[in-house]
Amino acid sequence: MSDFSTRLIAWQREHGRHDLPWQGGHDPYRIWLSEIMLQQTRVETVIPYYERFLARFPDVAALAAAPVEDVMALWSGLGYYARARNLHRAARVIRDEHGGAFPRSAAAIAGLPGIGRSTAAAIAAFAWGERVAILDGNVKRVLCRVFGVAGFPGEKAVETRLWALAESLLPEHGIGRYIQAQMDLGATLCTRARPACARCPFHDDCVARREGRVAELPAARPK
Ligand code: ADE
Repeated sequence: MSDFSTRLIAWQREHGRHDLPWQGGHDPYRIWLSEIMLQQTRVETVIPYYERFLARFPDVAALAAAPVEDVMALWSGLGYYARARNLHRAARVIRDEHGGAFPRSAAAIAGLPGIGRSTAAAIAAFAWGERVAILDGNVKRVLCRVFGVAGFPGEKAVETRLWALAESLLPEHGIGRYIQAQMDLGATLCTRARPACARCPFHDDCVARREGRVAELPAARPK
């Protein structure tokens, strides 16, 4: 499919999410915080935590200066507390090793505590339009279905193949909207259970749908 990104971007304009509190800005700190909170937590749950956290810690310097107990207290109820500990640790690395300035590339961001390749790419794409691929659980599911990628996506060889596919699909322009579009499609239509194929922009092309294998892709972890 030659126009995957074009169609996905057009779909996002019409049907994607546009008014979340972390959208529209270009401050990597705010985007980073949203991506970490959203890793294991739903949007509706995240929003009030996100706003309280930013009110108390408006920038990296404020977060780095805070005692870890204060950070944990604001995270209380969100779960997966390693996320908060790493956030605080990373703020101190930025203060102590990067002169207080947020690292300016996805590769440099990926070296911080708690930030993997996909989250680093999302931050760099949203904050300054760096042309880099993401590959989170939602994106893996979309790619496995649309392109009929077999094998368990948690397996190294399959994951390597998915990263290459994700990179080959990147648009020349509009990377931020494209990344958001992938997240939105995976979260709202191409869901794990009962996906809404009838409303999907790839309805006619999706290998999984054409072959009646939507329930089988992505493949489950081998037993
Ligand atoms: N999940 C992870 N990142 C997200 C984002 N930027 N918007 C909505 N859901 C997300």
